[in-house]
Amino acid sequence: MLKDLILKNRSYRRFYEEVPVEIETLRELVDLARLSASSANLQPLKYILSCNPQKNALIFPNLAWAGYLKDWPGPKEGERSPAYIIILGDKNISKSIACDHGIAAQSILLGAVEKGLGGCIIGSINKGGLRKALKIPPQYEILLVLALGKPKEKVVIETVGRDGDIRYWRDNEGTHHVPKRKLSEIILAEFV
Ligand SMILES: Cc1cc2nc3c(=O)[nH]c(=O)nc-3n(C[C@H](O)[C@H](O)[C@H](O)COP(=O)(O)O)c2cc1C
Repeated sequence: MLKDLILKNRSYRRFYEEVPVEIETLRELVDLARLSASSANLQPLKYILSCNPQKNALIFPNLAWAGYLKDWPGPKEGERSPAYIIILGDKNISKSIACDHGIAAQSILLGAVEKGLGGCIIGSINKGGLRKALKIPPQYEILLVLALGKPKEKVVIETVGRDGDIRYWRDNEGTHHVPKRKLSEIILAEFV
């Protein structure tokens, strides 16, 4: 069921790094993005796939993880993602990309969850550093990086409390808690 997949599709930031994700799996995931909606059907998104440890080591230092967890510098060696999908916008096709990359990211992540994998959307990217590390030509705007792998952490959803704090947090057992606003808070009007 779609709701089950959406519930399971949390942002996972710690992985079994030793469990590989095959290149064919990454291709299948990008195929889901390929079949998804695109503004004016321009399809300006392009992708770089990596399940190569040497390339992954070039990508990782350019990503920022879990900004609210101030005392956590990101996944340690052995818990890093074994695979990445970098979403690029081809400026020769479209100068400004609407929200195609968000839709693509969600399609890819839902597909990953269906395959027993999980991931995290990373928008906080050292774009200059990543461009240099992978020699990405200027024609391609770096939009998002998806970290993918077999999750090695428990993530639970809870309801935002009375204080309105939406910051995710991690308890002593290492479980990651994600507060979500109530449905009644986000539906502004219902015209029946
Ligand atoms: C556009 C976008 C950019 C994001 N960028 C980052 C990021 O740079 N680093 C990170 O650790 N998480 C990032 N996230 C993940 C969010 O922190 C996460 O979605 C949020 O905490 C809610 O958790 P959930 O995905 O489990 O519902 C991003 C999510 C989105 C949608």
